[in-house]
Amino acid sequence: MARIDRATIDRIMDATDIVDVVGDFVSLKRRGSSYLGLCPFHNERTPSFSVSRSRGIFKCFSCGKAGNALSFLMDLESMSYIEAIKWLGKKYGIEVRERELTDTERLAEAERESMYAVNDFALSHFEKVQRETAEGRDVGLAYWRERGISDAMIARFHLGYALDRADDLYSSALKAGFSEKYLVETGLCIRNDRGTVYDRFKGRVIYPVHALSGRVVAFGGRTLRKEKTVAKYVNSPESAIYSKSRELYGLYQARAAIARKKKCILVEGYMDVISMHQAGVENVVASSGTSLTDGQVKLIKRFAPAVTLIYDSDPAGIKASLRGIDMFVAAGLSLKIVLLPPGDDPDSFAQTHTADEVEAYIAGHEQDLIGFKADILLREAESDPRRRADAINDILGTVALIPDIVEQSLYIDQCAVKTGVSASLLAEQLKRITAAKASKAEHARQGQAAAEDRRREQQAEAPVQKPAAAAVAAAGGIDPRILRAEEDLMSMVLRNGFLYLCDVYPDAEASEPQPMSVVDYVECELRSDDISLASPLLRRIWERVIALRDSRWPADSADNDRRLLRERDETLSRGQAEIRERGADLETTMLLDKALVEKADADYASATDDFALHYVSRMIGRDEDRAVIDEAARLTARPTVLSKMYPRDDRRQTLLDKLPRAIYTLKNAIIKSRISALEQSLASAGSDYERQLAIMKEIQEMKLVSMEFDRTNGEIVITPRM
Ligand code: CTP
Ligand code: MN
Repeated sequence: MARIDRATIDRIMDATDIVDVVGDFVSLKRRGSSYLGLCPFHNERTPSFSVSRSRGIFKCFSCGKAGNALSFLMDLESMSYIEAIKWLGKKYGIEVRERELTDTERLAEAERESMYAVNDFALSHFEKVQRETAEGRDVGLAYWRERGISDAMIARFHLGYALDRADDLYSSALKAGFSEKYLVETGLCIRNDRGTVYDRFKGRVIYPVHALSGRVVAFGGRTLRKEKTVAKYVNSPESAIYSKSRELYGLYQARAAIARKKKCILVEGYMDVISMHQAGVENVVASSGTSLTDGQVKLIKRFAPAVTLIYDSDPAGIKASLRGIDMFVAAGLSLKIVLLPPGDDPDSFAQTHTADEVEAYIAGHEQDLIGFKADILLREAESDPRRRADAINDILGTVALIPDIVEQSLYIDQCAVKTGVSASLLAEQLKRITAAKASKAEHARQGQAAAEDRRREQQAEAPVQKPAAAAVAAAGGIDPRILRAEEDLMSMVLRNGFLYLCDVYPDAEASEPQPMSVVDYVECELRSDDISLASPLLRRIWERVIALRDSRWPADSADNDRRLLRERDETLSRGQAEIRERGADLETTMLLDKALVEKADADYASATDDFALHYVSRMIGRDEDRAVIDEAARLTARPTVLSKMYPRDDRRQTLLDKLPRAIYTLKNAIIKSRISALEQSLASAGSDYERQLAIMKEIQEMKLVSMEFDRTNGEIVITPRM
């Protein structure tokens, strides 16, 4: 469950003014009804970045990026959803009360807080000891100096030293009021079998590990002794606040540089990160000697689309590094690999070169993964045909993960050159591997879909809709005609939401007409033909819209209505008082009164429309699903026939015309696509005469429907069919 309650998110988003938020980062100029500035997401000289206050969205007409205040912060400042909400809360002075915790959660939370607190204490203690004791200066500080680390880096990374005494931290912490429990749970101290508690990091220099939030979650301690029997590093164990697979060393200090350079450099060790920073290359993090996890890859992806791995050129290290490397490719990150000159590691290289030299070396030696893998694996396989084949399959397995097929084919060419195997053979083998992967994935997907269906049937509130459009979709992709029509329709829904359209009689006997909104109308139309949207993302958005209508919209619109009526009454009584004060004659007073009421009524009506109009896009923009926020913003920003500023009633009138057309276009696209599919299956029906006949019959029927459609195009009127 979300950590911040719905009501708080609503309060914050209601207060949020996108012009204000974007204005904190981009200088904006008013241009008509919107604001214009230079796009912060790409380099440009003439402004094409437009912000609409009333719709709460931005869109760059040059690079195409669109979103709302939330996604703006998430992308530009690399914040998570929660962080963005909190940032906005702070800006607008709204206290972010996190959701009421259950007792168990409260306890766990309190435990975690205690662990953070004791870690904070330890960090300061290690820094203080290093500064203020003779041993700290002579051993700890001396070590950093000897490794060429500046005071600025010592401060920035909070490097410290733990006295070589069994209980220095332990007794200092107890004296400061911390309990033994948390010293042991964080792993700062260890309780042995005999019950004695002692310091884990004693006699070591200390590298604190910061989480993205800036809190200290773990420590690494390096020994200063040379003996092989002493572990070089001692690290904090996993705990309630530390999961090794979810942290990257240095990310807290590097995050801004990574986002700025749109690239993350990955090295192995603590010292590598620090020396690189010191040299002025700040977009560097470390995996801390273990192979990477999925969680870490996702973490990187939040900040940058590209990763460069830097390795020492020793073969053992390289071999180990190949493990887990495919994850980057599968995550869609662009991956480059740099080998350092023999004998160097990033630390020594950075210590002996300037930032420019380091950057130049990286730029000049970056290799892509396929080339790198080919070199390593093929060299290893030598001329053993069996092992060469394994190596080639391994490489093709990586190529198969690349989402872009054009890119794939470029890699195939490269592979052909490296292996001496023809590109066409490699392409064929790649096809096989891809098919095997796809059938495996399809298997998994079908399992999921079946589970989803069962879940729906169990809920079975609304009748399960037949996925007519989905069936029409060409295997794999969606017919572009259908997609385009769905986008147009959803764009109208998002831009007009619950705007009142007309009254309808729900059934023949009903005497009371019912108001019908844009959403109602579209739902009614889609349902009458059992259409469910083919695009999964649009379907998700549409489901959210319907859920809104059935849950929050009635209460929210009633609230808003009450507020508007109250405002209207206030305006009226204020205005009437003013009129009375003038003491004009009766006739003038009555005329003024009448004008006042008319104005108040008109204001009320247009405010009601405004609320209904923007409600859907406002609410969908708060969704926790990034894909939903972005797609909704993109569709809302999309230029449509309605993009001109229509006066309210014209807008309604235009919608009464455009909406049925949009529905018509969608249905027509579905039929046309169905016909194409049938014609294709006819072509492949071979000599099965019966089947041919059946298909031809169906095509015939479809064509009739299609003709009927063409005939009525443009004349469709709203016909309620409930
Ligand atoms: N590491 C570890 N435990 C070990 C050895 C290594 O946790 N016993 C991790 C540390 O995060 C270390 C990284 O692996 O930073 C790389 O190891 P290594 O290259 O041996 O250490 P360096 O960081 O290069 O340390 P130094 O330069 O001080 O020798
Ligand atoms: Mn090293």
